[in-house]
Amino acid sequence: MPGKKKKIPRHVAIIMDGNGRWAKRRGLPRIFGHRAGMKAVRKAVEFAYEKKIPYLTLFAFSTENWGRPRDEVEGLMNLLKEYVDRELPEMKKKGIRLNVIGDLDRLPEDVREKVDRALRETEDNEEMVLTLALSYSGRDEIVRAVRRMLRKRSLRARDVTEETLREHLDSPWIPEPDLLIRTSGEMRVSNFMLWQLAYTEIYVSEKLWPQFTKAEFKKALDDYARRKRRFGLTDEQIEEEPRGENAP
Ligand code: FPP
Repeated sequence: MPGKKKKIPRHVAIIMDGNGRWAKRRGLPRIFGHRAGMKAVRKAVEFAYEKKIPYLTLFAFSTENWGRPRDEVEGLMNLLKEYVDRELPEMKKKGIRLNVIGDLDRLPEDVREKVDRALRETEDNEEMVLTLALSYSGRDEIVRAVRRMLRKRSLRARDVTEETLREHLDSPWIPEPDLLIRTSGEMRVSNFMLWQLAYTEIYVSEKLWPQFTKAEFKKALDDYARRKRRFGLTDEQIEEEPRGENAP
């Protein structure tokens, strides 16, 4: 429709899959795939910023990833440090706030320190929130949320509701993702944001993560703009009272 503003998701979450395969196809060690993946991360953040997507969340390291060969884990931790070092000035310039979810206590101290510094130095930024899921899994986040609740002595069983549980998740101030993108053609959520993905639209790209360009990201947004979200209600109800990214 001419003149009609395209529906932009408020929160996009991405499962960046396929770095290993990208490297393998080129006869390279896996870490080369992750390095190429880091470049794709930069492009994706840039694109989200250009498109004025207020929240972007990237699954950068899962709790299961700790089980990968030591070299690969170390390589990924080094890339993370490098990423924060290189991107922090840009984030400050553009007004991007860095946020993290996951069990950060498991991160090596030097990574933790770097990340903490970037969190502090960008905490007042308001243009966009970039969340990195580090040492993260959806089940683990829910378990840690329940533990946080149980530490409150005054809590009674009837106080446990969807709302109180949600409030104890890692970043309850972030809206639930409107769109989940997964690369490399895999049709799985792989223990990512299990609570928050309840009504999220899913888009699967056939590209391996290092090949995920701005044009690919745009395809996902175009596809999302054509979706009709009903949140378990009927078409008529949604037309009367829209929910989600464009709701008041
Ligand atoms: C999945 O590919 C990707 C990861 C386990 C790590 C993601 C990391 C990056 C994109 C680079 C660093 C990130 C930041 C934010 C600096 P895979 O290794 O599982 O690929 P495969 O399934 O083809 O083996």
